[in-house]
Amino acid sequence: METDIEQAAERVTAVMNYLAGTDRKPVSYMYQPPAGTPVRSWHIARHPTEIRNARPLARRLSLDREGFILISQGSSVRNFYDDDEVRRVYYPEVERLVKEASGAARVFAFDHNVRCGPKAKRGEKGIREPVKYAHNDYTLKSGPQRVRDLLPGEADALLNNRFAVINVWRPIRGPVEEMPLAVCDARTIAPQDLVATDLKYPDRTGEVHSLAYNPAQRWFYFPRMQADEAILLKCYDSADDGRARFTAHGAFEDPATPPGAPARESIEVRTLAFFAPQRESAST
Ligand code: OGA
Ligand code: FE
Repeated sequence: METDIEQAAERVTAVMNYLAGTDRKPVSYMYQPPAGTPVRSWHIARHPTEIRNARPLARRLSLDREGFILISQGSSVRNFYDDDEVRRVYYPEVERLVKEASGAARVFAFDHNVRCGPKAKRGEKGIREPVKYAHNDYTLKSGPQRVRDLLPGEADALLNNRFAVINVWRPIRGPVEEMPLAVCDARTIAPQDLVATDLKYPDRTGEVHSLAYNPAQRWFYFPRMQADEAILLKCYDSADDGRARFTAHGAFEDPATPPGAPARESIEVRTLAFFAPQRESAST
């Protein structure tokens, strides 16, 4: 609602990186590409973008409307850099969280990334940098493909019913003062803003959306997120009935970052959320 948006008066203006106009399908390499092939076939368009404080709206946000919500709930994980502990302790916590928040009948956590700029730059194993590009993790093609790849035996049955891909993004340490995550109200993204982009891995090609700039897009963030808070972010929904399907997001350099602020450390877990057939469309 416009009134909600107007109430989010606090805002920062930061440069967001978007996909510049292109006539061929964009391709990004997640590894060192063959000689002569650029890591990215596409160009970046930098646009100063207003990013609004979503905290005043937090209680009214909905996964099915804006495509993202804020949850206040801690984790019992002691070390998010420990892959085993994350899979053993955090995945089940995330599955419960997404189930409760979305009303899904079954939730399957299948992947995660830990991010910290300086640790990634030092080459610490498995740690990535924040993603400073506006993007959405799944497309009409790669959403269902993920179900087929991960749950081959059940995929045909599962794909008969509604399902979603929901990310759970949490600071490892709070407050986040550097490189926060911005999320775009899914209602303000026009279909042509979402451009299918190949992501080349050594063993497979994934497909994500790059985001083209459109001044109608409304961006939000949660300032100073704490480790007992998480953003749930819907990156795919099989339902084509007006609810949020693709929620673009990306990290940004916050002009309010105090000098010497610690680098952001975060974890995001990706989940598949399967809904019972003929579920009432009560929105969450
Ligand atoms: C995500 C994501 C980027 C970041 O959670 O899907 O793109 O910088 N995160 O945390
Ligand atoms: Fe993402």
